Amino acid sequence: MRCAQNLKRDHDVILHVAFAFGRACSQLMGQEGSSTRVPEPHRPPGGGRGPDREFFIRAIDFLEDFGDRYHGVKEETFIFPRLTRPAVDVEVLRREHEEARRRLRCLRETRVGEQAGGAEVDGGRGLLREASALVDLLRVHIQEENKSMLPALEVALSDEEDGGLARHLDDFEAMVLGPNAEDRYHQIAHELVDLTDQHHH
Ligand SMILES: [Fe+2]
Ligand SMILES: [Fe+2]
Repeated sequence: MRCAQNLKRDHDVILHVAFAFGRACSQLMGQEGSSTRVPEPHRPPGGGRGPDREFFIRAIDFLEDFGDRYHGVKEETFIFPRLTRPAVDVEVLRREHEEARRRLRCLRETRVGEQAGGAEVDGGRGLLREASALVDLLRVHIQEENKSMLPALEVALSDEEDGGLARHLDDFEAMVLGPNAEDRYHQIAHELVDLTDQHHH
């Protein structure tokens, strides 16, 4: 099933970035204790340990561009209309997309406000709270899609329909993200995961 594999690959890479984002947030929380600060560029909090602000900006960009603008819209446009209840409650999935979108917007606005107003802002705590809420949401949402949506899609599509739809998914990827998008975004994801892993030791 090309379509199900296509979506599963997206899910894996989105989850990797989301978990890296979550790890970065707890590293920040752990180091900063009660007086949480927004990480500053080129000056990671905690005397050089932990991801810097650049990491957060790149992770949010990734989740917005690849996770929402590409993957989320792809599901809403091409996949959800193929599915029916009770196998999949598409309305719940759509609402979760909306919620993720809202939370990402909020994270981005916090980030923009913080760039305008200096590093130490009230947004620090809010940013971390928002970030972990987003990570939880993505984890639950993607687990549910893997568990119920992908098998239902395999049932709903004939081999021929699957092949046709998979071509639409590829075209959509090129349209939204440009050429070689999969390689580029997987590379970004790799870098982001490495940035959080290296702080484990
Ligand atoms: Fe989704
Ligand atoms: Fe998905």
